[in-house]
Amino acid sequence: MEKIKIAIIGIGNCASSLIQGIHYYKYRDPQDVIGLMHWDIGGYTPSDIEVVAAFDIDKRKVGKDVSQAIFEKPNCTTVFCEDVPESGVEVSMGCVLDGVAPHMADFKEDHTFVVSDEAENEKDEIIKILKESGAEILLNYLPVGSEDATRFYAQCALEAGVAFINNMPVFVVSDPEWDAKFREKGIPTVGDDIKAQIGATITHRTLANLFRDRGVKLERTYQLNTGGNTDFLNMLNRSRLDSKKESKTEAVQAVLAERLEPENIHIGPSDYVTWQQDNKLCFLRMEGKTFGDVPMNIELRLSVEDSPNSAGCVIDAIRCCKLALERGIGGQLTSISAYTMKHPPEQFTDDVARNMVEEFIAGKRER
Ligand SMILES: NC(=O)c1ccc[n+]([C@@H]2O[C@H](COP(=O)([O-])OP(=O)(O)OC[C@H]3O[C@@H](n4cnc5c(N)ncnc54)[C@H](O)[C@@H]3O)[C@@H](O)[C@H]2O)c1
Repeated sequence: MEKIKIAIIGIGNCASSLIQGIHYYKYRDPQDVIGLMHWDIGGYTPSDIEVVAAFDIDKRKVGKDVSQAIFEKPNCTTVFCEDVPESGVEVSMGCVLDGVAPHMADFKEDHTFVVSDEAENEKDEIIKILKESGAEILLNYLPVGSEDATRFYAQCALEAGVAFINNMPVFVVSDPEWDAKFREKGIPTVGDDIKAQIGATITHRTLANLFRDRGVKLERTYQLNTGGNTDFLNMLNRSRLDSKKESKTEAVQAVLAERLEPENIHIGPSDYVTWQQDNKLCFLRMEGKTFGDVPMNIELRLSVEDSPNSAGCVIDAIRCCKLALERGIGGQLTSISAYTMKHPPEQFTDDVARNMVEEFIAGKRER
């Protein structure tokens, strides 16, 4: 099978899990693989994905082979595949813009970003690297709040003619103006903000669905999340959180029988606890009324390793994006975006989204 050539922006914990996963599944028997929603999509298995270009701004990553950069600090996610072979692809210096928040400088180097002294690459150079690498799809893994940087790299993808998968919550794929630009050029997009395999969002949505299906009126809910990786450190700056909160809150509001007033729903990153590293904890509470207006509540505590949790979904998004490239479809891919992203162009319940993806893979649905 020909390889799916991807480029990655931000060689942090999520990129590390994705790249480890590509190699981890190479020698597995399809009969007993665990941790994947799909082994095969359109003939492509996870190890048919190849990283051909990578961008970061951290001095411990820039200039290193991708296989080495993924294990450099401040990355702290679980290593489940130590033997990632050398790729021959060096991490290129990106363009910093608003990727690094000022408060990140107040923390120890082991836990925070340290910007490289290398000259930043301008747009034309990034486009050149993308084109020369043969990349077909560009994945965005920038920190939350990187509004300018995300738009900068999205523009690079557009001008290089490369598909764009936006795994973080700056709204590009779900933005109609950006969609028109990608559609016009015949370039497919998937986004925005990856939804983990079993994370806080999908669990909250599933319980919300249960309330709806069983006729329970949800009256109030919260979802408080803590973690100790750079994603959580970055999110200590509340001014960077607007889109993240909107993305996470909408993902739940969209499946409720009745939308909740803003004062009755609170969802978001709540604190940074260094020693938690890439372990994310979610504390979830839902209060409702059952038969006879009798009150009930559910409390749930979820503990997950944050970054591998998103990689399986991204592996599916990449393969569906490749099918769209082969089929000549440009613009938002609504089915895989609804299935794998928190803020897709159009929200569907997860079971409906899953069926839509199966139809898309089978060629029975355009996008
Ligand atoms: N873990 C999950 O399940 C999950 C789910 C949804 C969304 N996300 C989002 O995915 C994104 C990536 O998460 P992560 O845990 O890998 O974060 P991370 O902090 O580990 O990685 C971010 C990387 O981006 C680099 N970077 C910063 N500015 C840059 C720039 N201008 N150009 C190039 N590189 C730059 C950093 O050096 C770092 O390597 C975050 O926005 C996160 O919120 C993650």
